[in-house]
Amino acid sequence: MSEGSHPHGLATAELKMTTVNRQLILQSRPKGMLAPGDLQLKEARLPELKDRQALARVKYLSIDPTMRVWMAGDSYLPAVAIGEVMRAFGFAEIVESRHPDYKKVDRVTGLTGLQDYVVVDSSVKQSFQKVPKIPFVSDTVFLGTLGINGLTAYFGMEIAQPKKGETLVVSAAAGATGSIAGQIGKIRGCRVVGIAGTDEKCNWIRKELGFDAAVNYKHTDWKAKLAAAVPNGIDIDFENVGGEIMNAVLDLMNLHGRVILCGLISGYTKEDPSLASFGTVLVKRLRVEGFIILDYAPRFMEAATQLGQWKMFGKIKDHETIVEGLERVPDAINMLFTGGNTGKLIVKV
Ligand SMILES: NC(=O)c1ccc[n+]([C@@H]2O[C@H](COP(=O)([O-])OP(=O)(O)OC[C@H]3O[C@@H](n4cnc5c(N)ncnc54)[C@H](OP(=O)(O)O)[C@@H]3O)[C@@H](O)[C@H]2O)c1
Repeated sequence: MSEGSHPHGLATAELKMTTVNRQLILQSRPKGMLAPGDLQLKEARLPELKDRQALARVKYLSIDPTMRVWMAGDSYLPAVAIGEVMRAFGFAEIVESRHPDYKKVDRVTGLTGLQDYVVVDSSVKQSFQKVPKIPFVSDTVFLGTLGINGLTAYFGMEIAQPKKGETLVVSAAAGATGSIAGQIGKIRGCRVVGIAGTDEKCNWIRKELGFDAAVNYKHTDWKAKLAAAVPNGIDIDFENVGGEIMNAVLDLMNLHGRVILCGLISGYTKEDPSLASFGTVLVKRLRVEGFIILDYAPRFMEAATQLGQWKMFGKIKDHETIVEGLERVPDAINMLFTGGNTGKLIVKV
């Protein structure tokens, strides 16, 4: 095909890149962790751009525990269908546009899916958010601290209504969401205790992020250590894990404490997850509130502005674990369930 005959009118080198779109297709619903073949790498031809469409090259993919939920069945979003490109948040750069709102090199975040290129089309229900280029700020921050995880931590902590001097416990505390939720707790004047799965993670959240204490739940005496770390009991549980960890936290909660149900990751790879004991919720008169970050979309800008300020002034620090290559996404997803990541887990496409 000659350069001029290509529908997107791209230069030869770029044309070569853009005729093929590698995609990870959901081939089977995983049982437990992802097995080889659950997601299969396939090649598709890029569709011709229609009016009011733009083509974006996906640069980074956000690897989120909820992807495992989307693979399993319908929940707060419909399940990804077998044979479909796997749903995922990503960061992409516009490479060609027939859309008045997008021009080449504009940068967007949104549901890109696990693929090299995505068609940005405002006529279908698929929203992309343009993001600015900020000097000295990495693109990946829009997937983590200024993206889903920062926003989730922000609104979860808003629901928690923390008061100065209260004790907050965060599980999966060295992860993308937990690490920020804990730091917001510090900004709000709480005593903050994190639960994480390695001594390195515990050191990081204590020494670098300023948590007051950290407990490694893989140590046999961790429950005693958790009790020792909360001499005044627990007022707020920012819950990311569920199961045994959540039960241990609930046991230490003060009467009328608040449980912010952000996630229950310990159950995502199980057929029959044990959540937590609702007997304790009753006896301690706890207030439990679940939330899904998508409900807060109209307020994302407000939250991102505050998170950006905190980050700029060093009140929030973050860390990223970056895995390279679209083909490594299945391994990266599994890392979330074995604790292979510290902070935000991202795949560089
Ligand atoms: N409600 C919402 O809208 C919303 C939005 C985003 C995320 N979330 C939830 O927030 C939680 C954290 O998500 P994230 O994206 O920030 O991931 P993340 O915390 O960066 O990564 C997951 C971490 O969870 C820990 N973990 C995994 N399995 C565990 C188990 N069985 N027991 C104890 N810890 C376990 C691992 O750390 P260790 O090494 O410490 O085990 C792992 O690194 C998830 O539950 C997710 O579903 C909710």
